[in-house]
Amino acid sequence: MKLQVVIKDNIPEISGDVDNITQLVWNLLQNVITHSESKTIELTVEALAANLGVKVTVSDDGVGIEPEILPRIFERGVSGKKGGSGIGLAICRDIAKQHGGGISIKSVSGTGTKVTVILRGIEG
Ligand SMILES: Nc1ncnc2c1ncn2[C@@H]1O[C@H](COP(=O)(O)OP(=O)(O)OP(=O)(O)O)[C@@H](O)[C@H]1O
Ligand SMILES: [Mg+2]
Repeated sequence: MKLQVVIKDNIPEISGDVDNITQLVWNLLQNVITHSESKTIELTVEALAANLGVKVTVSDDGVGIEPEILPRIFERGVSGKKGGSGIGLAICRDIAKQHGGGISIKSVSGTGTKVTVILRGIEG
């Protein structure tokens, strides 16, 4: 599997918990490796407009997420047929919220999956 990393220019510095952000990105990469049967992963990091934070996306061209579980995919315990505890994406969502942001997922069966994470930073 090939990993393509694109870091765009002028990424703003944000305050954050580096261990948690590492965990977030790792959970997403691990999902692609474990579930997607994809040939490539693309990880991009870019600035949000008007210095409002950072956008991280992880996309793959794999099998996609079953439509039956997609609406509940961020709930704890929701996992696909191939097993797993179903906690990874719930943790990702908690960490994104902790950083004033959020997470969304777009997935098409047979085409691939794209996860978008917004991080604005921890206040104070
Ligand atoms: N990139 C992806 N391609 C295909 N399916 C995915 C992808 N990412 C997530 N999924 C589906 O979403 C489900 C939930 O993912 P989540 O990370 O929350 O739990 P998990 O990977 O099953 O278990 P773990 O708690 O070990 O992460 C997966 O079981 C899988 O079915
Ligand atoms: Mg997972």
